[in-house]
Amino acid sequence: MTNSPLAGRDLISAADLSAPDIARLFARAAELKAEFRTERRHANPPLERRTLAMLFQKPSLRTRVTFEAGMTQLGGHALYLEEKVVLGGRETVSDVARNLERFVDAIMARTGPHEVVAELAARASIPVINGLTIREHPCQALADLFTLHERFGDLSGRTLAFIGDGNNVYHSLALMGATLGMHVRLAHPLGYGPSGRIVERARELAASSGGSLAFTQDPREAVEGADAVYTDAWTSMGQEAEAEERRDAFARFQVNATLLAASPEAVVMHCLPAHRGEEITSDVMDGPRSVVFEQSENRLHAQKALLVELLAS
Ligand code: CP
Ligand code: NVA
Repeated sequence: MTNSPLAGRDLISAADLSAPDIARLFARAAELKAEFRTERRHANPPLERRTLAMLFQKPSLRTRVTFEAGMTQLGGHALYLEEKVVLGGRETVSDVARNLERFVDAIMARTGPHEVVAELAARASIPVINGLTIREHPCQALADLFTLHERFGDLSGRTLAFIGDGNNVYHSLALMGATLGMHVRLAHPLGYGPSGRIVERARELAASSGGSLAFTQDPREAVEGADAVYTDAWTSMGQEAEAEERRDAFARFQVNATLLAASPEAVVMHCLPAHRGEEITSDVMDGPRSVVFEQSENRLHAQKALLVELLAS
């Protein structure tokens, strides 16, 4: 495959992808998913002999396994590098990038500070993919909006209500949702809102797509009339010391059957891992409106699409 407008690029922020880029990735993901679901393999694996280096400063189930299995299924190879080997101070981030670009075809990194992934991307001549930072989780947003696209088709004018923390997952959904003309609402406790810079950027994107951003401290107001109700952990990785005060602050922000009654048609989403009984109840997570495991499966298909497009040559 040649001439992909995504070839050789990085994915650091959800705002790096235009609406046509996202449409292209959704189409590629749908193709790969259909073939994989029927055959459990790809007839002509497009990434033979290509290698992805995966750097993790934080734990992962979905991101690690979907990128690693995805590379295998595409005919390539992924290698998992422990934090202490590459980002633990043995050498500079820049030197890590300048070595890896000579060995492998792409890098996927999950770091604490966003600046580390951004620096890897700035220094390495090969594609760098953000596998989650404290600021963003663009691969998650891509899989989530692909999940909604499968269900609703064109997402412009659709409403996503995020209940809880204005965190990395919210940031990427707000940016990508705004790019696609969606109405993205956030119900959050005071003091746990999103980054002002991200909101400003998402508002610029929404202004040209016809989308919108809205904020409230009332979860019910956010959920009314929504097409999707999304939640995530109240305490993200790296914030464990704040867990108790966050449990108190977020107690009113649980996605449960009572809240969902405000929008009887909405699907329920969660990036996982879930804390059952905290941000989401088990009856809702395991109920008929939940698409959480479809989102999880779609990490595989959406990221395979991303890898194929970024590594097109
Ligand atoms: N949703 C997600 O990124 O899961 P992991 O933390 O398990 O990778
Ligand atoms: N907001 C969560 C997402 C985990 C996939 C975290 O950063 O821990």
